[in-house]
Amino acid sequence: MITMEEEEIYKENILDHYRNPHNTGELQDYSIRHRELNPLCGDQIELFVKVEGCRCSDVKFCGKGCAISQAATSMLTDKIKNKNIDELKKITQEEVVNMLGIPVGIVRLKCALLPLKTLQKGIIKWEKGELCQTN
Ligand code: FES
Repeated sequence: MITMEEEEIYKENILDHYRNPHNTGELQDYSIRHRELNPLCGDQIELFVKVEGCRCSDVKFCGKGCAISQAATSMLTDKIKNKNIDELKKITQEEVVNMLGIPVGIVRLKCALLPLKTLQKGIIKWEKGELCQTN
């Protein structure tokens, strides 16, 4: 259980990431490219990951969404940079929600988990040998 003060700090952090998201843009030289949408609102995130030697050497994202989805994507892209693909596959939904720091309801959960879903589906495609998938 977090205090009201802590919740304010987490909310401020979410807004910071929303206003100034990290790792935005597109990679020209990517290994994984995948786009997912939140079916509840139609918002989309497209993720570009460069894999070098089984490690995520670079990542960028574009798309639109609410503060929660954009902040979660910004935070997730920070988290996965320079990590091994095997580590990325182990990232849990709980870890993503914990990064945000505040409790999210069922509707907002779809927003928060959109980047993780995009990443996981992109990795599956990459493992199957599909380098580029945009839909
Ligand atoms: Fe669309 Fe959150 S309302 S992703």
